[in-house]
Amino acid sequence: MRPYIACTRGKNMKKDFLALNAFTKDELDNLFKLATELKLKQKNGDKHRLLKGKTLAMIFEKSSTRTRVSFEVGIYQLGGHGLFISSGASQMGRGEPLKDTARTLSRYCDGIMIRTYGQEIVEELAHYSTIPVINGLTDLFHPCQVMADLLTVIEHKGGYAGLKFAWIGDGNNMANTWIEAAAIFGFDLALACPKGYQPDKQVLDWALSRATSRIVLTDDPKVAADGADVLNTDVWASMGMEAEQRARKEAFAGYQLNGQLLKSARPDFVVLHCLPAHRDEEITDEVIEGSNSVVWDEAENRLHIQKAIMAQLMGSR
Ligand code: CP
Ligand code: NVA
Repeated sequence: MRPYIACTRGKNMKKDFLALNAFTKDELDNLFKLATELKLKQKNGDKHRLLKGKTLAMIFEKSSTRTRVSFEVGIYQLGGHGLFISSGASQMGRGEPLKDTARTLSRYCDGIMIRTYGQEIVEELAHYSTIPVINGLTDLFHPCQVMADLLTVIEHKGGYAGLKFAWIGDGNNMANTWIEAAAIFGFDLALACPKGYQPDKQVLDWALSRATSRIVLTDDPKVAADGADVLNTDVWASMGMEAEQRARKEAFAGYQLNGQLLKSARPDFVVLHCLPAHRDEEITDEVIEGSNSVVWDEAENRLHIQKAIMAQLMGSR
């Protein structure tokens, strides 16, 4: 994989948020600090209008609840405005080239968030835009989500260093992003994925070539869950894979986050799920509703971490 390099435009340094691999550990740790500051300000009712008068265009080519609402509420709380653009209801849906959309939106807005299919689409959008572009999920990565997840782990466990993270299920966009995170932040990660549904090989090779921690890929969920501090899963069929639903249900039987599997985790483990969840498929109702589940804090933290990302990219922070 070609690691994404931040682009420059004339005199202005433009930094995008397309993949974690474009950032150093320190840069990402600073986002956790800023998110924590902004979260406190919001809870205390203190003004933090770091993006007063700024506009974020939010392009959606796939469905969303959390991403759409947290970005729109986030930019509003920062003093700006979010503009929802459904690709189907815009000229993009009628075939207007992405590079033309990029240059047009750059003349009106201060940032673009996009949820789409290929990672190359967000890269092309960022290349032709003169304003920062944020990846709100592609088939390859979901970087805002994993940053929110790590913020949640920091809050509940006091940090991520020295912890073992387990991924159970599909080697999808979330799994790929966790692999990058493990290499950058230096925590242990064990992924249990069935054969044929493993994470992106280029992402894994990139991570293994630079990781100082253990990144293990297995097809045995028990190996991944054994001694884990943080256990994480996601739907068996991601958006765009609906036609494979039946085949995937068969392939992923045995890859469920359930009470039996959690017996091998550490006693004080936490459970993450990016949501939406399919109860009693990848996770049981008992586990997602259980006392070790932190999924609602995780969903809330999308708001706080994305405010930090927007403030960092679109403001003077
Ligand atoms: N986790 C997440 O990205 O949720 P949405 O699909 O609802 O945006
Ligand atoms: N892997 C899931 C994540 C949804 C937030 C998907 O891409 O549909």
